[in-house]
Amino acid sequence: MKNNRICELLGIKYPIIQGAMAWISEGNLAGHVSKAGGLGIIAGGGMPPEILRKEIKKAKEITANPFGVNLMLMMENVEEQIDVCIEEGVKVVTTGAGNPGAYMAKLKAAGIKVIPVVASVALAKRMERIGADAIVAEGMEAGGHIGEITTMSLAPQIASAVSIPVIVAGGVASGEQFLAALALGGEAIQAGTIFIVAEECVVHENYKQSILKAKDRSTVATGNYTGHPVRVIHNKLAKNILDMEKQGASKETIEEQGRGKLRLAVVDGDVELGSVMAGQVAGMVNERKTCEEIINYLVNGLNEAKEKLNNRINSWN
Ligand SMILES: Cc1cc2nc3c(=O)[nH]c(=O)nc-3n(C[C@H](O)[C@H](O)[C@H](O)COP(=O)(O)O)c2cc1C
Repeated sequence: MKNNRICELLGIKYPIIQGAMAWISEGNLAGHVSKAGGLGIIAGGGMPPEILRKEIKKAKEITANPFGVNLMLMMENVEEQIDVCIEEGVKVVTTGAGNPGAYMAKLKAAGIKVIPVVASVALAKRMERIGADAIVAEGMEAGGHIGEITTMSLAPQIASAVSIPVIVAGGVASGEQFLAALALGGEAIQAGTIFIVAEECVVHENYKQSILKAKDRSTVATGNYTGHPVRVIHNKLAKNILDMEKQGASKETIEEQGRGKLRLAVVDGDVELGSVMAGQVAGMVNERKTCEEIINYLVNGLNEAKEKLNNRINSWN
């Protein structure tokens, strides 16, 4: 992709970003995605700064290509994490759960590109105003914490509201969806769920199996009630939380029920009582691949999808 603004901005070969996944996307996964020509992202959310430094060093051992770090801005140690990113020469930071405004000057002064993840037009515009280099528009099909609007409706509205490049996230796990993301005004994609089953991903085998076995209706959004919806595979934990929501349990009780549960699934492999975050595309992630194979699958799939689309359009034109 010559002259693609995201490739130029980030110094990458393909406009494919592996989205941050707390507890899952550490240095190994991010390093291998970047080595294959995409942009890998280390999920910094909640990581003690020295562990973050270790993961950054791990990614650097795998590749000299750029990779990013995701900062969850409500975390207490975010300032220290930023210092680690600057000291280690990280090139890109994506941000979630808050406004990066307070850190923008410091990040920019260190030459770090700042890319907030948003789920609304208003937030996208605000991020552009405070100097974001690009924006991830994430639809509610995505795994993990989500907004309320589908990718299909959100991406074009954000793309026409801002002039910085838009990266489309939520529901992209094939060449067809990559093509659709570009048609909706995106200049790149961010994918999470498809990378969970990557050979280089350290997540527990039971978690990978949950994704590989998932069908179209296997995920559900819990926490709509608390105002912090999370898309997960429907298991015992999800059922418990949904039942509590129906019974009108307090916000605190529901949030307490979810605490520590992602780690339980990712590290301990408890995929019934743990939180198995995954996007709706889990139903089409049926094969294990290396990071390089996933990137090639998306890039080759995009070209094939383009041909098919042309034929379909020409069939009535
Ligand atoms: C298990 C899991 C954990 C996630 N954790 C984070 C996170 O820590 N920070 C973040 O900004 N996004 C997080 N996300 C969102 C992803 O970065 C990405 O935007 C999303 O997965 C894209 O949609 P997809 O799941 O349909 O591919 C997570 C997603 C998943 C599936």
